[in-house]
Amino acid sequence: MRGGREILSSVISSQIDLHAPFGGVVPELASREHLSKIEPVVKEALERASIGLKELDAIAVTQGPGLIGSLLVGVCYAKALAFALDKPFIGVNHIEGHVYSVAFENPPIVYPALALIVSGGHTNLFFIPEEGKYKVVARTRDDAAGEAFDKVAKMLALGYPGGPVVEKLALEGDAGKIKFPVAKISDGRPDFSFSGLKTAVARYVRENNIQPVLQNESVSQEIKDLCAGFQTTVIKSLIGTMGKLSREMQPETLIVAGGVACNMALRAAAQELAEKLQIPVYFPSKHLSTDNAAMIAAAGTFHLKRGEHSPLTMTADVSMRLQNFEVEDAELKRKKVRYRL
Ligand code: KG4
Ligand code: ZN
Repeated sequence: MRGGREILSSVISSQIDLHAPFGGVVPELASREHLSKIEPVVKEALERASIGLKELDAIAVTQGPGLIGSLLVGVCYAKALAFALDKPFIGVNHIEGHVYSVAFENPPIVYPALALIVSGGHTNLFFIPEEGKYKVVARTRDDAAGEAFDKVAKMLALGYPGGPVVEKLALEGDAGKIKFPVAKISDGRPDFSFSGLKTAVARYVRENNIQPVLQNESVSQEIKDLCAGFQTTVIKSLIGTMGKLSREMQPETLIVAGGVACNMALRAAAQELAEKLQIPVYFPSKHLSTDNAAMIAAAGTFHLKRGEHSPLTMTADVSMRLQNFEVEDAELKRKKVRYRL
C-alpha cells in the first residue's frame, strides 16, 4: 500500500473452506493455517507489487482484538521483519483497520464522521470528530451482527459463513411474512442486541417444525421468508440507531464497513439514510469489507505519519479497544452495564 490510499497488491488467503465443515472458525486450525500461509502470502504481495522488502517504509500488523493464536502469528512475523529490516513497526487495532477500509475507493473523509463497523466479531458505532479520535456511541451487548447471521444459518444448516447465503435467500423471501421485533435496551442506551433475535428465530424454527436444509435439497419458501424477516430486523436495528445518532451528532460523513457491509440490503438502507441526511455514505468494495491486510496498512500509514510507532516489546491484545475520547468506562461500571464482546 502506498500513501494511505493506493493498493499496490492485495493477497487474501481465505480460510472459509477450512472452517466451513465446523460451521464457524476453529481457533487452533486458524492459527496453524496462518503460520503456514503468512510467508507465501507476504512473498506474493511483494511480487505482485514489484516491491522488495528493503523498499518498505514501515510494517503494520493487526495487534488486536481477535483470536490470540492468529494474532500472535502476525505480530511475531511482523516484528521479526521490522527488526531484521530496521523499519518502523506499527501495531494496528483491527477495528480501526475496518474504518480505514473505505480509504481506497472513496473521496477523503470529511469529519466528523459516524462509522458503523459490523462483522462476525464486532458491532460498533463510532463517532469520529477528527481523524484518529474514536468514541463508541453504540455497541452490541451480546452477539455481533455477523455472528447472528452465522448462527441463524447454522440452525438451518445453510452453510458457513451465514451472511452471504442468508442474504441470497432473503432476496427471494417476503420480509413481511415472519416479523421479529428490534431489541430495545432497558437502560435506554442506544446499544444493539442480537441474541434475543437469534433465540426468536430458533423458537420459530422449533414451533413451526422447520427442518434443516439437507444437501442438494431446495430451500422452502418459509425458510426464505424467515431469512428475509431476520435480515430486515438486523438492518432496522443497525440503520435505525445510526439514523437516530446521526440526527443528534450531525456527522458530515457516514461509514459502513466490516464483513456484514457486503450485504446489499444493508448498503441500500444506509444509502437511503444518507440521502435523507444529505451527507455521503462510504462503503469499502466487497473484497475490502471482509478482513484484509490493505486496511491495516492504511490505518498504519496514518499512525506512521503521526510518528506513532510500536516498540518491539509490543504484543497481541485479544480484547484491544478502539476508544480514545470521552471514554465512559467508570460510568458504565457504576451503572453495571455489561458487554460480552
Ligand atoms: O470482517 P469479517 O471478514 O471478519 C470478522 O472480523 O469477523 O466479517 C465476517 C462476517 C461473518 O459473520 C459473515 O457472515 C458476515 O461477515 N458477512 C455477511 C455478508 N458477508 C459476510 N453478513 C451479512 N450479509 C453478507 N452478505
Ligand atoms: Zn474484521
